[in-house]
Amino acid sequence: MIEFVIADDYDDMSRKAADIISAQIASKPDCVLGLATGSTPVGIYACLAEKYNNGELDFTHITSLNLDEFKGLSHDDKNSYYHYMYRNLFSKVNIDLNRAFVPDGSIENADEACRRYEKNIADTGGIDLQLLGLGHNGHIGFNEPSDVFPKRTHLVNLAESTISANSRFFTYKKDVPKQAYTMGIGNIMESKKILMAVSGTDKADIVRKAFFGDITPNVPASVLQLHPNVTVIGDKAAFSEITDYI
Ligand code: GLP
Repeated sequence: MIEFVIADDYDDMSRKAADIISAQIASKPDCVLGLATGSTPVGIYACLAEKYNNGELDFTHITSLNLDEFKGLSHDDKNSYYHYMYRNLFSKVNIDLNRAFVPDGSIENADEACRRYEKNIADTGGIDLQLLGLGHNGHIGFNEPSDVFPKRTHLVNLAESTISANSRFFTYKKDVPKQAYTMGIGNIMESKKILMAVSGTDKADIVRKAFFGDITPNVPASVLQLHPNVTVIGDKAAFSEITDYI
């Protein structure tokens, strides 16, 4: 079942998403959170950090698993997703860094990198709540449009559109990674709950295709139509093409 929650704007979306994550932590203080990167969740992490500072949240017993990481970037590279997570959340709350997992992009051997991350995922016992953003081409994590839904953590060649979207974070285009390690669609679908956050008119078209179009690996997020517990929080702009359906 998919529940759509309409937010007034980006800040409202961030607060509403943070409230759902807080409720998850309150109901299960040792839960496993699946976390996402990109510009969309920045406000959500700021709200979670604020709640932690106000004494409303405790991350002591939380385990987290991030969706993806650029291949070739180590955790201390400022453009790595680990570094993003450290800046936006890990350094701002009392999460145990030994239980804050992000695939290791510095591992050259893809089989080894993916095998290790699958072990991290298995050791946690499964994700309770997975936070997702949405790529402009419908990707979730870094599962790009393809002919199949990849099941588990794998190495992916990033789509040209994704590489150019990511280039805004890099000084030189040549430095933008062209490959990444990502959880598979199977890993994402196994999580008990899914919370997707979308913002802005540039996501309106893909939101419609993902949730009201065909279920196809050409639009990876469309697989979420088959998940039993999905909440999509979007601002009015991101929902502008689906207002007649929700
Ligand atoms: C990247 C990430 C995705 C994210 C997507 C959208 O490709 N790997 O997990 O959802 O970007 O990012 P944004 O929120 O910046 O639009």
